[in-house]
Amino acid sequence: MLEPFKEPVFITKPLLPEIEELSAMLEAIWASNQLSNNGTMVKQLERELAGYLGSEQLSVFSNGTVALQIACRALRLSGEVITTPFTFAATVHSLMWSNIKPVFCDIEEDTFNINPDCIEALITQDTTAILPVHVFGRPCNVEKIQKIADKYGLKVLYDAAHTFGVKIDGKPVSAFGDVSMFSFHATKVYHTIEGGALTFNTPYLKERADLLRNFGILDTGTVMEPGTNGKLNEVQAAVGILLLKKVEAEIEGRKKVTELYRKYLDNIPGITVSSDVEGVTHNYPYFVIKIDRDEYGLSCDEVFSKLKEYNVISRRYFYPLCSNFQCYRDIPSAAASRLPIANKVADSVLSLPLHGRLPADHVEKICDIIKGIRP
Ligand SMILES: Cc1ncc(COP(=O)(O)O)c(C=O)c1O
Repeated sequence: MLEPFKEPVFITKPLLPEIEELSAMLEAIWASNQLSNNGTMVKQLERELAGYLGSEQLSVFSNGTVALQIACRALRLSGEVITTPFTFAATVHSLMWSNIKPVFCDIEEDTFNINPDCIEALITQDTTAILPVHVFGRPCNVEKIQKIADKYGLKVLYDAAHTFGVKIDGKPVSAFGDVSMFSFHATKVYHTIEGGALTFNTPYLKERADLLRNFGILDTGTVMEPGTNGKLNEVQAAVGILLLKKVEAEIEGRKKVTELYRKYLDNIPGITVSSDVEGVTHNYPYFVIKIDRDEYGLSCDEVFSKLKEYNVISRRYFYPLCSNFQCYRDIPSAAASRLPIANKVADSVLSLPLHGRLPADHVEKICDIIKGIRP
């Protein structure tokens, strides 16, 4: 019988800058007396992120959710937008906050991403865009999605919250679609404690988003339109500048942990793990297992609870499905009968603890527990 971990092994552990380096940055900010409003740190962070993410047109925001809402406005989306139910609440909420009706599309069973083959049937006269999510860092079928968007004159807004630094055949994910949103929440591979970024395919969209994140104010005498407050502050931007120097090592560490999980979980009946996709540069944001209840002998929920008894804190991302939330379940496209794969996937996937510094013996023990609790 395995002993539980003495301390909880959390789902993730945030990457932190060296405190001495951060202190030096804080001293510079204190000396400047500018704490917010597009200061030196924010400008430097935007330049460096643009380079790292390979997107000339990039702006940072106070969080990814506000960034998504601003993107909806910058793109002038209205009516209906086709999206996935298998995502974090913020994706769909951002549409509702923009007075846009979400239309749920089923997902692919192997990638967990929106199924492009199901999109066309959902397009109506009111559809203005597609909002796909690169779920768990695995890129969507960007070619097929773009073809559909071009055929019907739709915008494509990617929720790229999980795909910091991901590339498809050497091209950054931000190269696809009109706008991509990256979340810099503390739980992400790269973060600014709270924060986010948008990348744009035209300078015009960046100009509009920059205006919208600053209340719509063009200059002291001119307010162009009802904007919001989506500004990142200088202290968080400093954290972002420092973490950009550490993110490669973090991704490398996550890759090693992921490979260990894959090795130790191989050949457990009823447990399926994902593998890398050829041509994709991955960033390893989550380690997800798919549990076949009949074959493994326990449901996802039961595994979650048993792991907790061993002090292993897993997460049921993304359960419940957005389409089953009380606020969305009455939308016709939310019916479970129309989203069979999404409902099946949400019932069977579990995220295990992952960060770049998770010790190898912890990974091995978590996998031993998963083997050991099988009835
Ligand atoms: C898929 C997805 N979309 C949107 C968000 C919202 O980002 P934020 O927390 O930065 O507002 C998150 C994560 O938090 C996410 O995982």
